[in-house]
Amino acid sequence: MRLVELEGQSPVWMSELEKIKLKAKGVNFLDITDAQDLGLQFKALRTSSFPSPNAADKVEPILKTLSTKGPEENLKKFSSFRTRYYRSDTGRESQQWLLSKISEVTADNASKSLRKLISVKEFPHSWGQNSIIVRINGTSTSDDGVVVIGAHQDSTNMWPFLPAPGADDDGSGSVTILEAYRGLIAADFRPVRAVEFHWYSAEEGGLLGSQAVAKAYEISSTNVLAMSQFDMTAWVKRGTREEVGIITDFVDPDLTTFNKELVDKYLNIPYVETKCGYACSDHASWRKAGYPSSFTIESSFENSNKNIHSVNDRIDISDEFSFSHMLEFSKLAVAFAVELAGWSE
Ligand code: BES
Ligand code: ZN
Repeated sequence: MRLVELEGQSPVWMSELEKIKLKAKGVNFLDITDAQDLGLQFKALRTSSFPSPNAADKVEPILKTLSTKGPEENLKKFSSFRTRYYRSDTGRESQQWLLSKISEVTADNASKSLRKLISVKEFPHSWGQNSIIVRINGTSTSDDGVVVIGAHQDSTNMWPFLPAPGADDDGSGSVTILEAYRGLIAADFRPVRAVEFHWYSAEEGGLLGSQAVAKAYEISSTNVLAMSQFDMTAWVKRGTREEVGIITDFVDPDLTTFNKELVDKYLNIPYVETKCGYACSDHASWRKAGYPSSFTIESSFENSNKNIHSVNDRIDISDEFSFSHMLEFSKLAVAFAVELAGWSE
Protein backbone atom coordinates (compact mmCIF):
# COMPACT_ATOMS: atom_id res chain seq x y z
CA MET A 1 0.00 0.00 0.00
CA ARG A 2 1.17 3.56 -0.79
CA LEU A 3 0.37 6.83 0.94
CA VAL A 4 -0.58 9.34 -1.72
CA GLU A 5 -1.03 13.09 -1.27
CA LEU A 6 -3.19 15.02 -3.70
CA GLU A 7 -2.64 18.79 -3.85
CA GLY A 8 -4.23 20.45 -0.82
CA GLN A 9 -5.85 17.25 0.49
CA SER A 10 -5.01 14.88 3.33
CA PRO A 11 -3.00 11.83 2.24
CA VAL A 12 -4.85 8.60 1.40
CA TRP A 13 -3.69 4.96 1.33
CA MET A 14 -4.07 3.06 -1.97
CA SER A 15 -2.60 0.10 -3.83
CA GLU A 16 0.12 0.40 -6.48
CA LEU A 17 -2.49 -0.34 -9.17
CA GLU A 18 -4.89 2.33 -7.88
CA LYS A 19 -1.96 4.75 -7.97
CA ILE A 20 -1.20 3.87 -11.62
CA LYS A 21 -4.87 4.30 -12.58
CA LEU A 22 -5.06 7.66 -10.84
CA LYS A 23 -1.97 8.81 -12.75
CA ALA A 24 -3.45 7.59 -16.06
CA LYS A 25 -6.52 9.74 -15.36
CA GLY A 26 -4.19 12.73 -15.28
CA VAL A 27 -4.34 13.33 -11.53
CA ASN A 28 -1.21 14.89 -10.01
CA PHE A 29 0.06 13.65 -6.67
CA LEU A 30 3.06 12.94 -4.46
CA ASP A 31 3.77 9.47 -3.06
CA ILE A 32 4.86 10.31 0.50
CA THR A 33 4.91 6.74 1.91
CA ASP A 34 8.61 6.77 2.77
CA ALA A 35 9.04 10.49 3.48
CA GLN A 36 6.03 11.47 5.56
CA ASP A 37 8.13 13.65 7.83
CA LEU A 38 9.99 15.48 5.03
CA GLY A 39 10.49 19.12 6.01
CA LEU A 40 9.35 18.74 9.61
CA GLN A 41 12.81 19.59 11.01
CA PHE A 42 12.58 23.14 9.67
CA LYS A 43 10.25 25.64 11.30
CA ALA A 44 10.24 27.91 8.32
CA LEU A 45 11.63 27.84 4.80
CA ARG A 46 15.27 28.98 4.84
CA THR A 47 15.83 32.34 3.31
CA SER A 48 18.97 33.09 1.43
CA SER A 49 20.05 35.56 -1.16
CA PHE A 50 22.19 34.90 -4.18
CA PRO A 51 24.85 37.21 -5.60
CA SER A 52 24.68 38.51 -9.15
CA PRO A 53 26.83 36.40 -11.48
CA ASN A 54 30.41 37.70 -11.59
CA ALA A 55 32.68 34.80 -12.55
CA ALA A 56 32.60 35.19 -16.34
CA ASP A 57 36.38 34.77 -16.56
CA LYS A 58 36.00 31.27 -15.11
CA VAL A 59 32.68 30.27 -16.67
CA GLU A 60 33.09 31.37 -20.29
CA PRO A 61 36.18 29.31 -21.18
CA ILE A 62 34.37 26.16 -19.98
CA LEU A 63 31.24 26.94 -21.99
CA LYS A 64 33.38 26.88 -25.16
CA THR A 65 34.46 23.31 -24.43
CA LEU A 66 30.93 21.87 -24.11
CA SER A 67 29.76 19.69 -26.96
CA THR A 68 26.71 17.84 -28.28
CA LYS A 69 28.84 14.79 -29.07
CA GLY A 70 28.78 13.09 -25.65
CA PRO A 71 25.11 13.89 -25.00
CA GLU A 72 24.12 12.48 -28.41
CA GLU A 73 25.98 9.21 -27.90
CA ASN A 74 24.85 8.88 -24.31
CA LEU A 75 21.20 9.61 -25.01
CA LYS A 76 21.10 7.15 -27.93
CA LYS A 77 22.13 4.44 -25.49
CA PHE A 78 20.12 5.68 -22.49
CA SER A 79 16.85 5.84 -24.49
CA SER A 80 17.41 2.37 -25.98
CA PHE A 81 16.44 0.52 -22.80
CA ARG A 82 12.87 -0.80 -23.18
CA THR A 83 11.91 1.29 -20.18
CA ARG A 84 13.76 2.95 -17.30
CA TYR A 85 10.72 2.46 -15.07
CA TYR A 86 12.02 2.41 -11.49
CA ARG A 87 10.46 -0.96 -10.63
CA SER A 88 11.63 -2.75 -13.79
CA ASP A 89 14.71 -4.89 -14.51
CA THR A 90 15.70 -2.63 -17.40
CA GLY A 91 15.32 0.35 -15.05
CA ARG A 92 17.95 -1.24 -12.87
CA GLU A 93 20.14 -2.01 -15.91
CA SER A 94 19.89 1.56 -17.23
CA GLN A 95 20.93 2.84 -13.81
CA GLN A 96 23.98 0.59 -13.80
CA TRP A 97 24.88 1.73 -17.29
CA LEU A 98 24.61 5.37 -16.18
CA LEU A 99 26.78 4.71 -13.14
CA SER A 100 29.51 3.13 -15.26
CA LYS A 101 29.31 5.97 -17.80
CA ILE A 102 29.75 8.54 -15.01
CA SER A 103 32.77 6.62 -13.69
CA GLU A 104 34.24 6.48 -17.20
CA VAL A 105 33.71 10.23 -17.74
CA THR A 106 35.40 10.86 -14.38
CA ALA A 107 38.40 8.65 -15.20
CA ASP A 108 38.79 10.17 -18.69
CA ASN A 109 38.42 13.85 -17.77
CA ALA A 110 39.57 14.50 -14.19
CA SER A 111 43.22 15.04 -13.36
CA LYS A 112 44.79 12.68 -10.84
CA SER A 113 44.65 15.26 -8.06
CA LEU A 114 41.05 16.30 -8.86
CA ARG A 115 39.96 12.64 -8.74
CA LYS A 116 40.87 12.63 -5.04
CA LEU A 117 38.16 15.25 -4.46
CA ILE A 118 35.46 13.29 -6.34
CA SER A 119 33.20 10.49 -5.15
CA VAL A 120 30.67 8.58 -7.30
CA LYS A 121 28.06 6.78 -5.18
CA GLU A 122 24.75 5.01 -5.37
CA PHE A 123 22.01 6.14 -2.99
CA PRO A 124 20.15 2.87 -2.45
CA HIS A 125 16.36 2.48 -2.64
CA SER A 126 14.17 -0.51 -1.79
CA TRP A 127 12.80 -0.77 -5.36
CA GLY A 128 16.05 -1.67 -7.16
CA GLN A 129 16.90 1.35 -9.28
CA ASN A 130 19.18 3.48 -7.12
CA SER A 131 19.74 7.21 -7.29
CA ILE A 132 23.29 8.30 -8.15
CA ILE A 133 25.24 11.04 -6.38
CA VAL A 134 28.53 12.49 -7.65
CA ARG A 135 30.30 14.88 -5.32
CA ILE A 136 33.20 17.24 -5.98
CA ASN A 137 34.45 18.22 -2.54
CA GLY A 138 34.94 21.91 -1.79
CA THR A 139 38.40 23.16 -0.86
CA SER A 140 37.08 25.29 2.02
CA THR A 141 37.44 23.92 5.52
CA SER A 142 35.00 26.45 6.98
CA ASP A 143 32.17 26.44 4.41
CA ASP A 144 30.07 23.26 4.59
CA GLY A 145 27.59 24.41 1.92
CA VAL A 146 26.74 22.23 -1.06
CA VAL A 147 25.35 23.16 -4.48
CA VAL A 148 23.13 20.48 -6.07
CA ILE A 149 22.36 19.98 -9.77
CA GLY A 150 19.73 17.33 -10.50
CA ALA A 151 17.86 15.36 -13.14
CA HIS A 152 15.75 12.20 -13.01
CA GLN A 153 17.07 9.04 -14.63
CA ASP A 154 13.82 7.02 -14.66
CA SER A 155 11.21 7.02 -17.42
CA THR A 156 7.65 5.82 -17.62
CA ASN A 157 4.84 5.14 -20.02
CA MET A 158 1.38 6.30 -19.00
CA TRP A 159 0.91 2.53 -18.58
CA PRO A 160 4.17 1.65 -16.80
CA PHE A 161 4.40 -1.90 -18.22
CA LEU A 162 4.62 -0.53 -21.81
CA PRO A 163 7.90 0.67 -23.44
CA ALA A 164 9.16 4.08 -22.33
CA PRO A 165 12.28 5.38 -24.15
CA GLY A 166 12.11 8.63 -22.13
CA ALA A 167 14.47 10.47 -24.50
CA ASP A 168 13.25 13.90 -23.42
CA ASP A 169 11.68 12.96 -20.05
CA ASP A 170 14.23 12.90 -18.60
CA GLY A 171 17.00 11.31 -20.66
CA SER A 172 17.72 14.82 -21.92
CA GLY A 173 18.26 16.33 -18.46
CA SER A 174 20.31 13.30 -17.40
CA VAL A 175 22.84 13.70 -20.23
CA THR A 176 22.68 17.51 -20.04
CA ILE A 177 24.03 17.55 -16.48
CA LEU A 178 26.55 14.81 -17.30
CA GLU A 179 28.03 17.05 -20.03
CA ALA A 180 28.17 19.95 -17.55
CA TYR A 181 30.00 17.69 -15.09
CA ARG A 182 32.41 16.58 -17.84
CA GLY A 183 33.17 20.18 -18.82
CA LEU A 184 33.79 21.22 -15.22
CA ILE A 185 36.18 18.42 -14.34
CA ALA A 186 37.99 18.65 -17.69
CA ALA A 187 38.64 22.31 -16.76
CA ASP A 188 40.08 21.12 -13.43
CA PHE A 189 37.30 22.84 -11.45
CA ARG A 190 38.23 23.32 -7.77
CA PRO A 191 35.06 24.52 -6.05
CA VAL A 192 35.29 26.36 -2.75
CA ARG A 193 32.00 24.76 -1.67
CA ALA A 194 31.05 21.21 -2.59
CA VAL A 195 29.14 20.59 -5.82
CA GLU A 196 26.94 17.52 -6.29
CA PHE A 197 25.27 16.05 -9.35
CA HIS A 198 22.20 13.91 -8.61
CA TRP A 199 20.45 11.46 -10.93
CA TYR A 200 17.22 10.56 -9.12
CA SER A 201 15.35 7.31 -9.36
CA ALA A 202 11.55 7.09 -9.31
CA GLU A 203 10.61 10.70 -10.03
CA GLU A 204 7.78 9.24 -12.09
CA GLY A 205 6.58 7.25 -9.07
CA GLY A 206 5.80 10.53 -7.27
CA LEU A 207 9.25 12.07 -6.58
CA LEU A 208 10.28 9.00 -4.55
CA GLY A 209 14.05 9.11 -5.12
CA SER A 210 14.47 12.84 -4.53
CA GLN A 211 12.27 12.77 -1.44
CA ALA A 212 14.47 10.02 0.03
CA VAL A 213 17.67 11.96 -0.73
CA ALA A 214 16.29 15.30 0.51
CA LYS A 215 15.08 13.60 3.69
CA ALA A 216 18.55 12.14 4.34
CA TYR A 217 20.12 15.59 3.87
CA GLU A 218 17.56 17.19 6.15
CA ILE A 219 18.14 14.59 8.88
CA SER A 220 21.92 15.05 8.71
CA SER A 221 21.43 18.87 8.70
CA THR A 222 23.36 19.12 5.42
CA ASN A 223 23.64 22.74 4.33
CA VAL A 224 22.25 22.70 0.78
CA LEU A 225 22.70 26.26 -0.55
CA ALA A 226 20.81 25.72 -3.77
CA MET A 227 19.30 22.96 -5.89
CA SER A 228 18.66 23.26 -9.64
CA GLN A 229 16.54 20.70 -11.50
CA PHE A 230 16.93 19.86 -15.22
CA ASP A 231 13.92 17.88 -16.45
CA MET A 232 13.25 17.97 -20.24
CA THR A 233 15.83 20.08 -22.09
CA ALA A 234 15.59 18.99 -25.74
CA TRP A 235 12.32 20.08 -27.35
CA VAL A 236 11.87 23.17 -29.51
CA LYS A 237 8.33 23.14 -30.85
CA ARG A 238 8.08 23.89 -34.56
CA GLY A 239 7.25 27.53 -35.24
CA THR A 240 8.23 28.72 -31.76
CA ARG A 241 11.16 30.82 -30.55
CA GLU A 242 13.94 28.81 -28.88
CA GLU A 243 13.95 29.76 -25.18
CA VAL A 244 14.57 28.52 -21.64
CA GLY A 245 11.43 27.97 -19.60
CA ILE A 246 11.90 29.22 -16.05
CA ILE A 247 9.39 27.64 -13.70
CA THR A 248 8.05 30.13 -11.15
CA ASP A 249 5.80 27.97 -8.98
CA PHE A 250 6.97 25.57 -6.23
CA VAL A 251 10.45 27.16 -6.41
CA ASP A 252 12.59 29.63 -4.45
CA PRO A 253 11.98 33.10 -5.94
CA ASP A 254 15.52 34.39 -5.29
CA LEU A 255 17.20 31.35 -6.80
CA THR A 256 14.85 31.65 -9.77
CA THR A 257 15.89 35.29 -10.25
CA PHE A 258 19.51 34.14 -10.11
CA ASN A 259 18.83 31.60 -12.88
CA LYS A 260 17.31 34.34 -15.05
CA GLU A 261 20.51 36.37 -14.61
CA LEU A 262 22.58 33.35 -15.65
CA VAL A 263 20.49 32.89 -18.82
CA ASP A 264 20.91 36.58 -19.71
CA LYS A 265 24.65 36.52 -19.08
CA TYR A 266 25.75 33.17 -20.48
CA LEU A 267 23.19 31.70 -22.91
CA ASN A 268 22.49 32.43 -26.57
CA ILE A 269 18.72 32.26 -26.07
CA PRO A 270 16.28 34.22 -23.87
CA TYR A 271 14.11 32.90 -21.04
CA VAL A 272 10.37 32.84 -20.60
CA GLU A 273 8.59 32.52 -17.26
CA THR A 274 6.20 29.60 -17.01
CA LYS A 275 4.43 27.38 -14.48
CA CYS A 276 3.71 23.68 -14.01
CA GLY A 277 0.76 24.35 -11.75
CA TYR A 278 1.72 21.47 -9.47
CA ALA A 279 4.80 19.89 -7.83
CA CYS A 280 5.91 18.52 -11.21
CA SER A 281 9.54 17.45 -10.63
CA ASP A 282 12.30 16.79 -8.09
CA HIS A 283 12.93 20.44 -7.18
CA ALA A 284 9.67 20.19 -5.21
CA SER A 285 11.16 17.57 -2.85
CA TRP A 286 14.00 19.94 -1.93
CA ARG A 287 11.62 22.81 -1.42
CA LYS A 288 9.49 20.62 0.82
CA ALA A 289 12.61 19.81 2.87
CA GLY A 290 13.16 23.56 3.31
CA TYR A 291 15.98 24.13 0.81
CA PRO A 292 16.06 26.74 -2.01
CA SER A 293 15.36 25.02 -5.33
CA SER A 294 14.67 26.00 -8.94
CA PHE A 295 13.57 24.35 -12.18
CA THR A 296 14.47 25.22 -15.76
CA ILE A 297 12.83 23.44 -18.71
CA GLU A 298 13.00 23.29 -22.53
CA SER A 299 10.21 25.83 -23.19
CA SER A 300 7.05 27.26 -21.73
CA PHE A 301 4.87 24.53 -20.24
CA GLU A 302 2.48 24.88 -23.20
CA ASN A 303 5.18 24.40 -25.86
CA SER A 304 6.85 21.43 -24.15
CA ASN A 305 7.13 17.95 -25.66
CA LYS A 306 3.73 16.25 -25.80
CA ASN A 307 5.23 12.81 -26.57
CA ILE A 308 6.40 12.24 -22.99
CA HIS A 309 5.17 9.15 -21.13
CA SER A 310 4.63 7.37 -24.47
CA VAL A 311 6.57 5.13 -26.89
CA ASN A 312 7.12 8.26 -28.99
CA ASP A 313 9.41 10.02 -26.52
CA ARG A 314 12.32 9.32 -28.88
CA ILE A 315 15.30 11.25 -30.24
CA ASP A 316 14.32 10.52 -33.83
CA ILE A 317 10.62 11.34 -33.61
CA SER A 318 11.04 14.78 -35.18
CA ASP A 319 13.56 17.55 -35.83
CA GLU A 320 12.01 19.38 -32.89
CA PHE A 321 14.30 17.21 -30.73
CA SER A 322 17.41 19.39 -30.57
CA PHE A 323 20.84 18.62 -29.17
CA SER A 324 21.98 22.19 -29.66
CA HIS A 325 19.05 23.29 -27.47
CA MET A 326 20.17 20.80 -24.83
CA LEU A 327 23.65 22.28 -24.92
CA GLU A 328 22.31 25.63 -23.70
CA PHE A 329 21.16 23.83 -20.54
CA SER A 330 24.59 22.27 -20.00
CA LYS A 331 25.93 25.84 -20.15
CA LEU A 332 23.37 26.91 -17.54
CA ALA A 333 24.39 24.06 -15.22
CA VAL A 334 28.10 24.92 -15.53
CA ALA A 335 27.40 28.59 -14.76
CA PHE A 336 25.20 27.61 -11.80
CA ALA A 337 27.97 25.46 -10.31
CA VAL A 338 30.84 27.93 -10.76
CA GLU A 339 28.91 31.04 -9.73
CA LEU A 340 27.47 29.49 -6.56
CA ALA A 341 30.27 27.19 -5.43
CA GLY A 342 33.16 29.49 -6.30
CA TRP A 343 36.57 28.60 -7.70
CA SER A 344 39.61 28.26 -5.48
CA GLU A 345 43.02 28.91 -6.98
N1 BES B 1 9.01 16.01 -16.75
C1 BES B 1 7.75 15.81 -16.12
C2 BES B 1 7.15 17.13 -15.64
C3 BES B 1 6.73 18.05 -16.75
C4 BES B 1 5.86 17.63 -17.73
C5 BES B 1 7.20 19.33 -16.80
C6 BES B 1 5.49 18.48 -18.76
C7 BES B 1 6.81 20.20 -17.81
C8 BES B 1 5.98 19.76 -18.81
C9 BES B 1 7.90 14.86 -14.94
O1 BES B 1 8.74 13.76 -15.25
C10 BES B 1 6.56 14.26 -14.63
O2 BES B 1 6.07 13.50 -15.41
N2 BES B 1 5.99 14.65 -13.49
C11 BES B 1 4.70 14.14 -13.11
C12 BES B 1 4.39 14.48 -11.68
C13 BES B 1 5.24 13.71 -10.67
C14 BES B 1 4.98 14.19 -9.26
C15 BES B 1 4.99 12.21 -10.78
C16 BES B 1 3.65 14.75 -14.03
O3 BES B 1 3.85 15.88 -14.53
O4 BES B 1 2.62 14.12 -14.22
ZN1 ZN C 1 7.65 12.49 -16.63
